Amino acid sequence: MRLSTPAKDAILSAKNVVALTGAGISAESGVPTFRGKDGLWRNFRPEELATPEAFRNNPKLVWEWYEWRRQIIKPLKPNKGHEIIARFENRFHQFMLITQNVDGLHQKAGSKNILELHGNIWRVKCTKENKTSINTEVPLPSLPPYCECGSILRPDVVWFGEPLPNHAIQAAYDAAGACDLMIVVGTSAVVQPAASLPIIAKQQGAFIVEVNAEETPISHIADEFLIGKAGVILKEFEI
Ligand code: APR
Repeated sequence: MRLSTPAKDAILSAKNVVALTGAGISAESGVPTFRGKDGLWRNFRPEELATPEAFRNNPKLVWEWYEWRRQIIKPLKPNKGHEIIARFENRFHQFMLITQNVDGLHQKAGSKNILELHGNIWRVKCTKENKTSINTEVPLPSLPPYCECGSILRPDVVWFGEPLPNHAIQAAYDAAGACDLMIVVGTSAVVQPAASLPIIAKQQGAFIVEVNAEETPISHIADEFLIGKAGVILKEFEI
């Protein structure tokens, strides 16, 4: 898949760039995506587990799902796609990475200027004190794990029906509203408000490049839609 001339020109002339990533950028590292064929866990959909109700009704089950994901993710390494995006930080005059991923692989690849819209699987939050802390224990001592105060800990991630961290979503809207190039990588673009960011960018005149293994609901608004594996295609952006 070769970049078109307009896409090359947009990359070469871009001053303010945003990358928006989803689970697809971590797929080549071995992280299961949410809606792909390998995404299901015990035949539950994320929408059935990643909710405050599911956690209230059965915190052990929800934590078993997160424990499964933490066990998979812990030994994994960032892939070429993460590394290329990390290098964008020094390449463009202004660069912001907005990720829906909670796996921490962008940080492992060296990305610093990063907005984690949906939290991080390596942080936990006390359900009573609301204090967050890093927890990389695999396996966890108990499911669910407990805070020293005796209350249950929850994953510090955003669940369906919960608001995104205010600072993160406001900064994401601002970045989408100001960029001249948005590179959207590996997201099914079905979960809001992240899925609106490419539309906000497009409406203010940004050049939109989408990289995905298959078409998505935003492919029709992309100025360039590159189908294939992120780790392979993103190499073409290093011009
Ligand atoms: N390269 C590029 N794209 C890929 C690759 C790959 N190697 N492998 C898969 N994809 C694409 C799929 O085609 C799909 O469009 O990545 C996308 C993954 O979509 P989802 O599994 O829905 O993940 P994501 O879009 O990040 O989900 C958004 O939903 O469950 C919630 O909070 C969770 O952040 C997540 C949000």
